[in-house]
Parts: sequence; structure tokens; C-alpha cells
Amino acid sequence: MEFYEVLKQRRSMRGFLPDAVKQNVIERVFTSALQAPSNCNTQPWYVHIVSGEKIEELRATLPQKFMAGELSLDYPYDGKYDGDFKVRQYAAAQALYDSLGIARDDKANRHVAFMRNFTFFDAPHVAFFYLPADFGLREACDLGMFAQSVMLGLVNEGLGSCPQTALGMFADTLKESLSIPDDRKLMFGLSFGYVDKEDPVNRCTTDRAAPDQLIQWHS
Ligand SMILES: Cc1cc2nc3c(=O)[nH]c(=O)nc-3n(C[C@H](O)[C@H](O)[C@H](O)COP(=O)(O)O)c2cc1C
Repeated sequence: MEFYEVLKQRRSMRGFLPDAVKQNVIERVFTSALQAPSNCNTQPWYVHIVSGEKIEELRATLPQKFMAGELSLDYPYDGKYDGDFKVRQYAAAQALYDSLGIARDDKANRHVAFMRNFTFFDAPHVAFFYLPADFGLREACDLGMFAQSVMLGLVNEGLGSCPQTALGMFADTLKESLSIPDDRKLMFGLSFGYVDKEDPVNRCTTDRAAPDQLIQWHS
């Protein structure tokens, strides 16, 4: 696919078909993404890819854990934004709920939509992205570049994905279930698979700020 087309087509998809993606395709995407740059080529990322019975086990467990308040975050997240950032955050939420026809004050259905995070939006695969435990902001940037490379690779294969901070709330559960070594900390998850084109949630599109708000030129 043409590069700018891949960039444009990458949107967060929140409804997937149950069909498994071929293992060699998943491997091609994730191993190609290892080409991502990193500070001093340290490659500070680990990714755990979950499919099959294991994802079904998590799909059954995570919603219960969330409702029981059994949450554990390696990286606390307060989700509080002000000014332009708050405006953009609200607009993204509005776009999502508009796509589902959920009104602003319909808390019950917003909750249902939010809970879909924990069943991976029905995706047959989920990847969990980890940072080496002692690393910080600089290396988190590297991890983000790796994750974006994965997301673009998935688009290039005709697949879709949704990065999910919401999945970062289950560090302890995943540590136990996937035998995650102590030397890594959970940043976020990424549900992925074939996009359900009939699911209205996938009509959700978000705006971007005007380039001159974010890009300054110097010469
Ligand atoms: C690190 C990260 C975490 C995110 N966490 C969530 C999440 O937990 N649940 C969700 O539905 N979307 C999540 N998103 C998706 C964003 O809402 C989305 O990227 C943003 O609104 C822009 O829309 P687009 O991805 O469709 O271009 C996350 C995105 C990123 C990059």
C-alpha cells in the first residue's frame, strides 16, 4: 500500500471479526516493526502477543476484574487534561459516542461501550507492550515508535487495531496469567485483527489540530 495511504487509513478500530489472522502475517508485522529506531539502539520494548485459548481466558476475566476493582497499573494514569488537550479529549470521546448513537448523558450505554475495551472489542488477538522496568520517559518514546510501526504494519496487511491504555490496568493479572518476568512493566495493550466493517463504531473518525498550531518553522 502507498505509505501516505497507510498513515491515513490507520484509525482506532473498535469492532473486529472473530477470524484469526495467519501466524506468518502477525510475525511479519511484528518482526518488521522491530526496525523502529530507539535511543542508542537500545530497543527498549517487549511485546507479548496473545491469541487462542489464552485470549478467551482473559476476555472472560478482565471485565470481572474491572468491576471488582481489582486493578493494578505499572504506570499510574490520571487522565486529566486542560485547555486544548481537554478540548481534543472531549471531541474524541464525542466522536466515539456519536458513532454509536449514544447521547452525552447516557451513562449506562457509555459504560457498556467502555467495557468493550476489556473484551478486546471481540478481536482474536491482543498485544501487550512492556518497557524494561527501570526505564523512563525517553525509552517510552522508543516503545511508542515501535507500537506505531506495528499499527502501520497491520494496516498494510489489511488489518486494524486499537491501542488501549485501558488494558494497562491489569498489570498483576497479566503478570500471573502470561508469566511476565519482573523486569518489565506494562504500558498499554493493542487489540488487532480483521475489522468488522459493519460495526458502526468503526465509522468513528477524529479531527486533527491545524498544522500551524503544532508545527513551527524556523529558518
Ligand atoms: C497510547 C494510547 C492509548 C489509547 N487508549 C485507548 C483506550 O484505552 N481505549 C480506546 O478506545 N482508545 C484508546 N486510544 C485510542 C485514541 O482514543 C485514539 O488514538 C485517538 O482518539 C485518535 O483517533 P484515531 O486513533 O482513530 O486516529 C488510545 C490511543 C493511544 C495512542
